Amino acid sequence: MKRVSLTQHLVEQQRHNNAITAELRLLIEVVARACKTISHSVGKGALGDILGSAETENIQGEVQKKLDVISNEILLEANEWGGHLAAMASEEMETIHPIPNRYPMGEYLLMFDPLDGSSNIDVNVSIGTIFSVLKAPEGMGAPNEQAFLQPGTQQVAAGYAVYGPQTMLVLTTGKGVNCFTLDREMGSWVLTQRDMRIPEDTKEFAINMSNKRHWHAPVQRYVDEMLAGKTGPREKDFNMRWIASMVADVHRILNRGGIFMYPADMRDPSSPGKLRLMYEANPMAMIVEQAGGAATDGNGRILEIVPHKLHQRVPVFLGSKNEVERVTAYHQA
Ligand code: AHG
Ligand code: MN
Ligand code: MN
Repeated sequence: MKRVSLTQHLVEQQRHNNAITAELRLLIEVVARACKTISHSVGKGALGDILGSAETENIQGEVQKKLDVISNEILLEANEWGGHLAAMASEEMETIHPIPNRYPMGEYLLMFDPLDGSSNIDVNVSIGTIFSVLKAPEGMGAPNEQAFLQPGTQQVAAGYAVYGPQTMLVLTTGKGVNCFTLDREMGSWVLTQRDMRIPEDTKEFAINMSNKRHWHAPVQRYVDEMLAGKTGPREKDFNMRWIASMVADVHRILNRGGIFMYPADMRDPSSPGKLRLMYEANPMAMIVEQAGGAATDGNGRILEIVPHKLHQRVPVFLGSKNEVERVTAYHQA
């Protein structure tokens, strides 16, 4: 079989469909290269002194793991000098990171969750990197946080890398979803799945059940009906998976269907759930929609939410279309 590399795939997209600009191609290649470096670090584990806590807190008040900090630095360094970006923003940084003056400024904005699934690092379970790309608003001048506050529909590219038994990169530029596997010997990304599609129906759900007592009524109803199985209103048995790395859960759903939920709950009525809109929910929502699935916050499309702050949180329901539509309808009932 003839192998298609990430570079070749992107060049073809640029040439035939005019789907991406040369600058966006460079951006994606640089992010992919940074993910390769992160994957290499992840693979070293205790031998690379990358496990454990960094003993610092990020803006979300979460204790940072060493690998959160390392991955953030790898992504920042890789993307600073290429001339394709105006600024970056990350889960691990309070404010935006403008491109230093010594480098040329490009027209794109990059956001990332450098290391998703931090609680799984030290136990050798799949983790990942999530990223989202926007265009800087025209005539923006010096980049500021406001420039990033665009709805997810404006994303020009989104993707994630998953560091599991295999390292994979899943990418969309708005023309379907493709998956690349890292050839560890050659150090190259090879196209291994074209145009991934999420089955519309599923018998598998993913939610952190330990929060059940805190859920709102629509989520209680939806999950209870699934748990009731064959003799319940759904008349079929469901299976459950929860990896606690969104990348790994979404990757499973892209491959065989399923619904992933991280709802808001009653613990803190002012908090709309755990996941962050700009660099977790939006890129995943774009990928899932591009693969024929759906992604809502229980009310409407995640991608249509107009953000008001960089680190804003959002309830997330995404995956197989018919299931996401059902739980969303329960919120409106
Ligand atoms: P992060 O490691 O970037 O903070 O994100 C972790 C997220 C997400 O990946 C996962 O689905 C969820 O948190 C797990 O939450 P619980 O610990 O509540 O299961
Ligand atoms: Mn995350
Ligand atoms: Mn993270």
